[in-house]
Amino acid sequence: MPSPIRLLAIESSCDETSAAVLEDGKVLSNVIYTQTVHEKYGGVMPEEASRLHIRHIVPVVEEAFVQSGISKHDINAVAYTQSPGLIGSLLVGGGFAKSFAQAMGIPTIAVNHMQAHVLSNLIADKKPSFPFLCLTVSGGHTQIIQCNAPLDMVVLGETLDDAAGEAFDKSAKMLGLPYPGGPLIDNYAQLGNPSAFTFAKPNIEGYGFSFSGVKTSILYFLQAEKKKDENFIEKNLNDLCASIQHTIISILIKKLIKASKETGIKDICIAGGVSANSGLRKAIQETAVKQKWNYFIPKFEYCTDNAAMIAITGYYKYLNNEFAGMEETASARSSF
Ligand code: KG4
Ligand code: ZN
Repeated sequence: MPSPIRLLAIESSCDETSAAVLEDGKVLSNVIYTQTVHEKYGGVMPEEASRLHIRHIVPVVEEAFVQSGISKHDINAVAYTQSPGLIGSLLVGGGFAKSFAQAMGIPTIAVNHMQAHVLSNLIADKKPSFPFLCLTVSGGHTQIIQCNAPLDMVVLGETLDDAAGEAFDKSAKMLGLPYPGGPLIDNYAQLGNPSAFTFAKPNIEGYGFSFSGVKTSILYFLQAEKKKDENFIEKNLNDLCASIQHTIISILIKKLIKASKETGIKDICIAGGVSANSGLRKAIQETAVKQKWNYFIPKFEYCTDNAAMIAITGYYKYLNNEFAGMEETASARSSF
């Protein structure tokens, strides 16, 4: 095994083109290009996303090398997001990783994006102990994971329909806010009253989640109020955002408490784009005090899609000798 181990990592599963350089588990650079063009479509346009990945991947990788101070000749392997994600977007990152590795005569490492979100909690110096629980909340997934070792994870529960990020984004759309609406709801919510309005909360068995009923409840409520006052949303935007955010967060926290109580695990992490939400971060801190949890929240740049999390996962796979074959292709869906 070489010492130090230096990896290049590529993330391109959705609308972020990202590259990171890692040395012995330490992130040296993490460059992220976010495709803002999708705002005008109200969601990610897959074909446009693939084109933009092709345009940006080389400059993003070059910048990651510059910031790391490492030469491309000193890289030992290339980790890339293999699944899940938009197939056209994944193929750009995977194709780039394989071409780069082939040219340099080094192996590639295929990484599962959801596993990587969980392991973003192992980037900081202060790390959770195994086993830990992770609430992974992104635009496409909502899962409670039991992580027994870096590459040994079990999905305890997940959403039966919409993901938490989707619930944020679709609610934002109903309020007339642009895509992605999650961060905007977060901003307005900070000025509003979380108890101003109440919305339906589903009663799902076990560790599962459901957000489609919440969405419908918000839709019917807004339709009824707009009939009475067409400016209802504008007049109550802060309170609406605070109440919607509060509803989503309380559904998430309730299940996390249940999972911690029933497994006896007290090291609790959050991950994924929605873990950037200030209300969720605060709720985790407050719940941690009451439940006596050791809590771990990734830095903002490691919450939404980024290559540093692909790099840290690639590092553990490297240590485990888990390399990808040239024939390994991208996959839109996958579990780990
Ligand atoms: O993990 P991520 O970057 O991409 C996926 O793998 O899906 O997550 C994106 C999701 C979007 O739904 C976005 O609205 C949400 O994360 N998000 C937020 C915040 N920042 C990003 N949701 C609520 N509050 C935020 N501050
Ligand atoms: Zn993600």
